[in-house]
Amino acid sequence: MNIQIINGPNLNLLGKRETSIYGSESFEDFLETLRKRFPSLSLHYYQSNVEGEIVNKLHEVGFSFDGIVLNAGAYTHTSVAIHDAIGGIKTPVVEVHISNVYAREEFRHKSLITSKCAGMLTGFGMEGYALALTFLMGRK
Ligand code: DQA
Repeated sequence: MNIQIINGPNLNLLGKRETSIYGSESFEDFLETLRKRFPSLSLHYYQSNVEGEIVNKLHEVGFSFDGIVLNAGAYTHTSVAIHDAIGGIKTPVVEVHISNVYAREEFRHKSLITSKCAGMLTGFGMEGYALALTFLMGRK
């Protein structure tokens, strides 16, 4: 199965950024663990701080891949373009947030993308990505 993981803005700083909220592991290190834990999956990773590039990546993989795991970062709360892109593709998207967005500022309580996603995981730390992969494998 081909699975695309997409991380949005500021998530390139994982391991360095607000470590009390997001932990001290870089995503690159965690990705190695994921590849060992899910050897049957072909895991593709993309990170961008640019909204339109995330839209482009969703279009690129969204008609051929088996699943997408998306942490859209702050664009979750603002992006009609990402909402529309998810709605326009065929591949199921699982929304992931490392922190529990409902335990944080009110502006994080609203997601513009959940309604177009297969499901949403929030507050499970990096493990949320693994839970999303387990869900996508079970759908096949
Ligand atoms: C986040 C939560 C968002 O509110 C925030 O803007 C992020 C990361 C998370 O993974 O918890 O950048 O998506």
